Amino acid sequence: MKSVLFVCLGNICRSPAAEGVFRKLAADAGREAEFEVDSAGTSAWHAGSLPDERMRRAAARRGYALESRARQFEPADLDRFDLILTMDEQNFHRVSALGPSARARIARLTEYCIIHGISEVPDPYFGSEDGFESVLDILEDACAELLRRL
Ligand code: 4NP
Repeated sequence: MKSVLFVCLGNICRSPAAEGVFRKLAADAGREAEFEVDSAGTSAWHAGSLPDERMRRAAARRGYALESRARQFEPADLDRFDLILTMDEQNFHRVSALGPSARARIARLTEYCIIHGISEVPDPYFGSEDGFESVLDILEDACAELLRRL
């Protein structure tokens, strides 16, 4: 079984959405048993919370139920997961700074985008509703390709 951890800052917008999108794409492909999927935030600010209401609504409109509880990324995650996928440069450098890991490969999720030519998943927290839609567009692009490659 392959284990995949998605990481952002708060673990209430981007990474729980990535987790939900990847889970559904894997389930729709009949491949859910192949993966352990989780998400975490580099901060503990929202630990224990459900995803942001705006992200939950936007995701629900596309058929993704986001029900995970936020948790902080911990160094032990480097030994627990095969692949750790970060949303932006700050997350990437914070996670990498705890490495190197004998197990996990740490990569930017946007490496898997085939439609969007971008290097970060933008933080939607302080923006408008549109930002949540474009995050989901990016995550669907990246997670579909990630699933194909795994
Ligand atoms: P996330 O978004 O990293 O995608 O979960 C954020 C959530 C909360 C905050 C920033 C970004 N915050 O400043 O509380």
